[in-house]
Amino acid sequence: MVNQKPFLSVQIKLVFILSAFLFLSLATFGSTLNALNTHTLQEQTRRREELFARNVQQSIDQVLFAGKYQVQAYVESLVKREKSLRYVTIIEGKTRMAFAHSDPSKIGSLHDDPVTGRAFASLHEDRAVLQSVRSSSGESIDDLALPFQRGYLREAAGIIRIGISASAEEEAIRSSRLVTLGLTLFLLGVGVILAIVLSLRLTSALKEPVSAARLLGEGNYETRVPLSQKKFDELDLLAIAFNQMAEKLHGYAEHLEGQVAERTKELASLNQALKESEERTRAQYDKLKELDRAKDDFLSVISHELRTPLNAIMGFGSILGDEVTGPLNEEQQECAEKILSGSEKMLLLVNDLLDFASMQAGRFRILPALTDYEKLAREAVSSFKLLAKEKEILLEVQTDVPEKLLLDENRIYQVLSNLIVNAIKFTPKGGKITFCSRVEGDDLFSEMRDTGMGISPEDLPKLFAPFVQLDMSVTRRVGGVGLGLSICKAIVEAHGGTIWADSPGPGKGATIRFLLPVKEKE
Ligand SMILES: Nc1ncnc2c1ncn2[C@@H]1O[C@H](COP(=O)(O)OP(=O)(O)OP(=O)(O)O)[C@@H](O)[C@H]1O
Ligand SMILES: [Mg+2]
Repeated sequence: MVNQKPFLSVQIKLVFILSAFLFLSLATFGSTLNALNTHTLQEQTRRREELFARNVQQSIDQVLFAGKYQVQAYVESLVKREKSLRYVTIIEGKTRMAFAHSDPSKIGSLHDDPVTGRAFASLHEDRAVLQSVRSSSGESIDDLALPFQRGYLREAAGIIRIGISASAEEEAIRSSRLVTLGLTLFLLGVGVILAIVLSLRLTSALKEPVSAARLLGEGNYETRVPLSQKKFDELDLLAIAFNQMAEKLHGYAEHLEGQVAERTKELASLNQALKESEERTRAQYDKLKELDRAKDDFLSVISHELRTPLNAIMGFGSILGDEVTGPLNEEQQECAEKILSGSEKMLLLVNDLLDFASMQAGRFRILPALTDYEKLAREAVSSFKLLAKEKEILLEVQTDVPEKLLLDENRIYQVLSNLIVNAIKFTPKGGKITFCSRVEGDDLFSEMRDTGMGISPEDLPKLFAPFVQLDMSVTRRVGGVGLGLSICKAIVEAHGGTIWADSPGPGKGATIRFLLPVKEKE
């Protein structure tokens, strides 16, 4: 941008403007001078011509006195004497005919032209009439008409017409014009040269501030414009102002550079600290990941390893209980039942742990198939009827799902069982549990409502996280590890659905609801 050549430099602009101004001024001056000169020259010529005509006028009366032929001789002698005189005619007033003419062949010719007419009209005023005419050879002639008088009474007797060549006058005007033009051109030339010199001096004086500003712009803050030694003018004022500005800029730049260096140093140390902290966090993250993987592996292995002996315990327990190995007394029968119910609970827990481990490892999958959901829900609820009866809880089912739906039957059964078990666990004696289900648009809507201990609003968002149990005193009494709802959430979400809990507050019952998209969305 700085190095870009300007379209029209200040120098050219200055020369152009000054020259235009000079041209206009000198043109006006020249044309005025020329007009004045021309006018003066014409005036002088007219006066000289009229004076000559008046001399002729004075002498004509005496010549006439000597006779008409004398007039002719006088006229001819006049033309011979005066080089610029082209013709002289004396016209008689009455006849308007020439009775003397420098060209004898024209004696007797009638003069009835406008100039003669105008001269006769002003006969008594003694006024000269003038017109410019051009001769047949192209020469410009001043044609002058003047009345003349005769006798003692000075009666108007006729007209004198004189033709004087205007070439000398024209020549004088032409030379005056040439002199004026030459003078104008000379002055214009001098003016243009002065304008060029002035603009060159001005622009060369600006060169230093311009190159100093360019250097300053490039970051050379020590650049200064030198002051002129001889005189002190506006350019020096500009140089002083520029130097002050450069001084200040230098100061700012140094301050800024210092600040930038300081901040860069701070940033570098911050960066280093950040890097170290990132490395530490990464190491901790890797360690935690390792531990998490080890925990999942441990859970998975332990659950597997627990399931095998558990199956053996349950198998042999039922063999004992069914008295396959021989009759048992009442006490032995009770022991066998306790072995069975304890190992069933343990199996459920082991299954939950296995599900959780596969959830964590990202191996949790569902296998959807067309399912009679209403039948499935009724079966799930009725399998816990005995448990509810023991706690004198009323179990109600209100389902309206006539068509078969695409679901993983076992997994949804698991969800329903977990919700029913929770409802029974957290509802005191004499309470009521209602299970409702219906199809709403493209979704299957289900809810498990109880009149139990309820959930406080601040606990509602935590409910579905693994190993979360709200009231430890209750959960310790009723058992469980806090995995049921998180497994329900994983199953529902694997179906593309959502699950959430509602409760009016502690002691006011709770409702767990879930939505499953059972119809394909476009
Ligand atoms: N119907 C309910 N009424 C009140 N609180 C509930 C209800 N269902 C769940 N909760 C609360 O949510 C917690 C988490 O439930 P979740 O089913 O995940 O675990 P759990 O029942 O304690 O143990 P698990 O299901 O593993 O046997 C419960 O401990 C309980 O505090
Ligand atoms: Mg539970």
